[in-house]
Order: sequence, then structure tokens, then C-alpha cells
Amino acid sequence: MNTLPKHVAFIMDGNGRWAEARNLPRALGHRAGAESVRRAVKFARLRGIQFLTLYAFSTENWSRPGEEVDNLMELMASFLASELPGLLENGIRLKVLGDRAALPESLGRRLSEAEGLTAGMTGMTLSLAINYGSRDEIIRAARRATDCLAASGRTGGQLTQDFFASFLDTAGLPDPDLIIRTAGEMRLSNFLLWQAAYAELFFSRRPWPDFGEDDFEEALREYGKRTRKFGA
Ligand code: IPE
Ligand code: IPE
Ligand code: MG
Repeated sequence: MNTLPKHVAFIMDGNGRWAEARNLPRALGHRAGAESVRRAVKFARLRGIQFLTLYAFSTENWSRPGEEVDNLMELMASFLASELPGLLENGIRLKVLGDRAALPESLGRRLSEAEGLTAGMTGMTLSLAINYGSRDEIIRAARRATDCLAASGRTGGQLTQDFFASFLDTAGLPDPDLIIRTAGEMRLSNFLLWQAAYAELFFSRRPWPDFGEDDFEEALREYGKRTRKFGA
């Protein structure tokens, strides 16, 4: 029986290698990657996926050359501007995961505006992980959770999993059922470490710019064959 995952999360990897294999600058790989994002969002929406999460920029990606970082920031800003009408038209709610305080001011503002404008949409939730790292998210959550406990005279002993998770960037999202990583690498690279506790993992050799509908469908088919046990 083929069950559809409620929440699919992608580690979109391989833009650079895609470009290098074609003797193109990495920037063009990222641009092709943005096209692939459009395609994946559309496919997920039509296919009835309720939550789609995309890892776009990690807390470690700041260590790339300044030019590449600037290029990625600009690409995300222009992507947002061009896609916002489509999100509204298709009932897609945008949510941002990660620490936006360190992002260029205009990008941070645009992300917040887009979240506000799409807040009432119920068709699908698209989460973009930007300046996201799981360890950073967990530390930020731990600080706020313990402050909150202290403010009401409680101690660490009263911290529960649900209370803690309500301080994560993913608060309100179900845990990912399926995490797909492209471009052949088999690691999580600081993505959703808490939330991935029982996620099914799927690794595709395809670099992200080449990941198409057929590949997405294959991952869903494979997911449908898995037996999830949750330790029981
Ligand atoms: C993924 O592609 C995009 C980001 C991490 C921003 P990469 O840029 O990591 O591509 P490779 O891994 O170098 O091929
Ligand atoms: C993971 O890809 C981060 C994103 C997809 C945004 P990386 O290319 O940064 O990961 P590593 O360096 O191969 O682990
Ligand atoms: Mg990479």
C-alpha cells in the first residue's frame, strides 16, 4: 500500500558539481537549482504533500567564498519576489526556519513579509531553511525554553519534549516523514537533527538541478514501501 508522506524535506545538494561538470560558474548551478525548486514546489502541491521543507543555506555555508554567499543571498531574494504571487495563487503558506538576524536586512524583511502575506494559506506549507543549522536551532530553543521556565519559577526538571519542541523553528510543523538528499552524499549536514528522529531517508545520485518529477515520484514510491516501526 502506498502512503503519501505528510512532510517531505529536501537537502538540495549538488548545484556546484552540476555547474562544474558543464564548465559553468557555480552561480549558474545555483540558478538552475532555483528552477528545480520551482518544479519541486509545484509537484509537491499537485501531489498533495502537505508540508515541504527545503534546506537552502546552512549556518556552515557562510564559510564559502564571499562572492558565492552574496550570490546565494541575492538569488534567494529574487526567487522570493518572483514566486510570491504564485504562492498566494496556489494557497501556499511560507515559513522560514533558521536565524534570520544574520541575513542581509532586505532579505530578512522580505522573508518576514512573505510569511505574513501567506499566513492564512492552507494548501501546503513550504518551509525554507535559510541560515539554518540544527545545533544552532537547538541552542536558541534551549535558551528561550529555560528563560521561559525561569520566568515562571520552574526549573530544568520540568522541561518536557513537547515544551522544548515548541521553541524550535519548526514549532507547529509535524516531524518530517521523508528526508531526501540529492547529489549522492549520505549525511544530514546539520539538518533537522531533532526532528529527523524517525524520518525515512532517501538518497538520490541526481544533482539538485537535475532532480525532476520522476525522481520525486520514485522517492515517494520507495517511501510507500518502507515499514515504519517507531521502535515498537
Ligand atoms: C547546494 O549545492 C546548495 C547549497 C548548499 C547552498 P552545493 O553548492 O553544495 O553544490 P556542491 O555540493 O558543491 O556540488
Ligand atoms: C547542505 O549542503 C546544506 C544545504 C543543502 C543548504 P552542503 O553542501 O553545505 O553540505 P556538505 O558540506 O556537503 O556537508
Ligand atoms: Mg554541497
